[in-house]
Amino acid sequence: MATMLILGAASDIARATALAFANDGWDLILAGRQPEILDKIATDIALRSGRRVKTAHFDALRSEEHAVFWQGAEEEVSALFCAVGLLGDQEKAQADMDQATAILQTNFTGLLPILSLAANTFEKRGRGLIIAISSVAGDRGRASNYFYGSAKAGLTAFLSGLRNRLAKKGVDVITVKPGFVATAMTADMALPIKLTATPKQVATDIVKAARKKHDVIYSRWFWRYIMLIVDHIPEKIFKKLKL
Ligand SMILES: NC(=O)c1ccc[n+]([C@@H]2O[C@H](COP(=O)([O-])OP(=O)(O)OC[C@H]3O[C@@H](n4cnc5c(N)ncnc54)[C@H](OP(=O)(O)O)[C@@H]3O)[C@@H](O)[C@H]2O)c1
Repeated sequence: MATMLILGAASDIARATALAFANDGWDLILAGRQPEILDKIATDIALRSGRRVKTAHFDALRSEEHAVFWQGAEEEVSALFCAVGLLGDQEKAQADMDQATAILQTNFTGLLPILSLAANTFEKRGRGLIIAISSVAGDRGRASNYFYGSAKAGLTAFLSGLRNRLAKKGVDVITVKPGFVATAMTADMALPIKLTATPKQVATDIVKAARKKHDVIYSRWFWRYIMLIVDHIPEKIFKKLKL
């Protein structure tokens, strides 16, 4: 049976998506920084889905370990799903380059080695699937989160290039752009209820995108139209808005 490697697997969105993929017939390798939490999630998903679920250690900030990590997994892995992300502290990042670097590495540069390793393996095989969670925040920079947004914009552009390279090689690359989602990341934010998805709703959108081989999805779907409007606000007006 096909095995999917999930990076950042303890994330609220990843957990819901992992269960949805397991129920869809995938065996899983759940990778992240917290082995005890991952073991619990793995046991739960294995019991509920009847699939084989293993765990592995992965830290996006330790890129020097990624080649060895990938060597250990590549033979059995036929799909990669990356949910790693860090919102970080925008105000702190404006004055503290360590915070800024952590946001950029976690959401963008730290993910490029592992995404590239998977891409190269799948390209050689002539088949494979790469899914990564970017964000609507990457569509247009805003004062309240432009370190995070610019990192996600970089990830979105990288995935677009990867898709363009691998489309002729039998490898699908899916970019997921959630809007607001009720997770640990947004727990202390007052999100508008009608615009906020649950992790389960995002999971359903991701599994559907994988089945239908979509290229770029917004989750929920209406964010595509919200961002279309946001993208078209003239800069003269946009710069005066409190966003
Ligand atoms: N929630 C939203 O509104 C929203 C909107 C748009 C996009 N997203 C994106 O959705 C994805 C999942 O986020 P979430 O909302 O489910 O929040 P979350 O629960 O906070 O998940 C973030 C995940 O990233 C992992 N992570 C952070 N730094 C890492 C590192 N150095 N190495 C490996 N893993 C690392 C965390 O691992 P630990 O468990 O070890 O901390 C955690 O599992 C992220 O990419 C996020 O940017 C979320």
